[in-house]
Amino acid sequence: MPQRIFFATSEVYPFSKSGGLGDVMGALPLALHRTGAPVSVISPFYGRVSTSNYHIRLTISDLHVGHPWAPITCDVYETDYHGVSMYFIDRGEYFDRRFYYNTHKGDYFDNAERFIFFCWAAVALIERLGEPPAIVHAHDWQTSLLPAYIHFLRQTNPFWANTGTLCTVHNLAFQGRFSSRLFDASGLPPAAWTMDGVEFYGDFNMLKAGIAYADAVTTVSPSYAREILTEKYGCGLDGILRHRELDLYGILNGADYQVWNPEEDAFLPCHYGLDDVSGKQRCKENLIAELGLDPALKERPILGFIGRMRGQKGVDLLNAIIPDLMELDVGVVALGEGNPVHEARILDLMESYQGRVAAVIGYTEDLAHRMQAASDIFLMPSRYEPCGLTQMYALRYGAPPVATAAGGLRDTIKAWPADDATGFIFTHSSPVEFLEAVRDAVSLWSSNPESWKGMVRRAMSQSFTWDKSCREYIEVYRKVRLRL
Ligand code: ADP
Ligand code: GLC
Repeated sequence: MPQRIFFATSEVYPFSKSGGLGDVMGALPLALHRTGAPVSVISPFYGRVSTSNYHIRLTISDLHVGHPWAPITCDVYETDYHGVSMYFIDRGEYFDRRFYYNTHKGDYFDNAERFIFFCWAAVALIERLGEPPAIVHAHDWQTSLLPAYIHFLRQTNPFWANTGTLCTVHNLAFQGRFSSRLFDASGLPPAAWTMDGVEFYGDFNMLKAGIAYADAVTTVSPSYAREILTEKYGCGLDGILRHRELDLYGILNGADYQVWNPEEDAFLPCHYGLDDVSGKQRCKENLIAELGLDPALKERPILGFIGRMRGQKGVDLLNAIIPDLMELDVGVVALGEGNPVHEARILDLMESYQGRVAAVIGYTEDLAHRMQAASDIFLMPSRYEPCGLTQMYALRYGAPPVATAAGGLRDTIKAWPADDATGFIFTHSSPVEFLEAVRDAVSLWSSNPESWKGMVRRAMSQSFTWDKSCREYIEVYRKVRLRL
């Protein structure tokens, strides 16, 4: 009876990360491992992986991959990460690059080729390891070809006959959509080139491969699982998702409280927790000094934003309301990178409101932790949010979020003015509604400190553990295997 579960992912924290996918892949396999399930993770060997301190060793040289061109091979590196075997696929010209998927000028031109190669390398590696797996679990478009490859391999190759597949959609907007010419390089049979397969308005859609061929499709919150069945949130794939509705599950992500815990976060200048929150004020004063903000802000609320500066995250809504926020006598700190237009706008605002607005353009893990700890209120005006981890971290760090009623935000924040509120929710992604909601938050902070403290305590007590999500994944694995 096959046992092992293989995760295939383009990011895994702490080896690689560009957003929430990395966080999830750094935590869910470990949580599964704790339940006794044997888990391995396969991800690319990016340049920076080699410099991480995890005793990574070369385990296979010159593994024959064969796609997207016949003689191609890879090396495989391996390490044991808290009981989970991590395999890294090494092919320097594909993965040893400065960024993961794109530069500031746009996507790498060969992304299709890179991830076709990666998925076939995962197939070759699993075969070389010799034990047919119970489950192969793919994540996002970069690895979504795997369920399709396994679907077709199952028909001809006994090694794969008892392997079930899952495809988890972390963000439906990123689909890996390429010219139909790249379908030929994918190694899929012509039978896959249909409306029910990987063809998408004449293009080759790699995420659609996972949705069409995986035994089960999951996404990262129950609300988003419902939203993506609609035209508004379906990104053109709502039709095929409705077709797969019986095999579609929304499983809320967890937060890794080993990494995101203000009681022992190594990135913080001092610690705090429910028993003694006083360290939070010291973290705030520290960040005010670090970012050169007006010391008067020690006595006023700091509003924090961390995220990709793109339409999804509503950073344009934040930029639009910053002038009004200034009238509330608050500080705004923002960390992110993305669209140069949004980046330039927030830097202009920093210039206009010196000492009151601090924007850091870039990707800095430790600053993200310090900003969570220093913020009184966390801003998350996302237009859509499959799950969202930053608001979960904000809750634990005692910064009630102001967020849109979208996807996972709706599933993780209890909206003011309910008695058990942990944050503020607004319905439509408009600057007016966002500003209203922030006004409510600042007004509660200013006028009713006792009530505010109560909300902070409730926020900090929320617990989105991976153990619960893990049980739900195991149940889906079980259902998939029963059907094989
Ligand atoms: P998404 O995956 O859509 O970007 P999530 O809220 O699920 O959103 O996860 C974002 C993760 O990436 C969090 O760990 C957050 O702290 C981190 N992050 C986002 N932008 C930055 C940044 N500029 N610097 C450091 N960490 C960042
Ligand atoms: C995606 C989503 C985010 C989610 C993360 C991890 O990047 O945008 O909402 O939390 O994946 O699943």
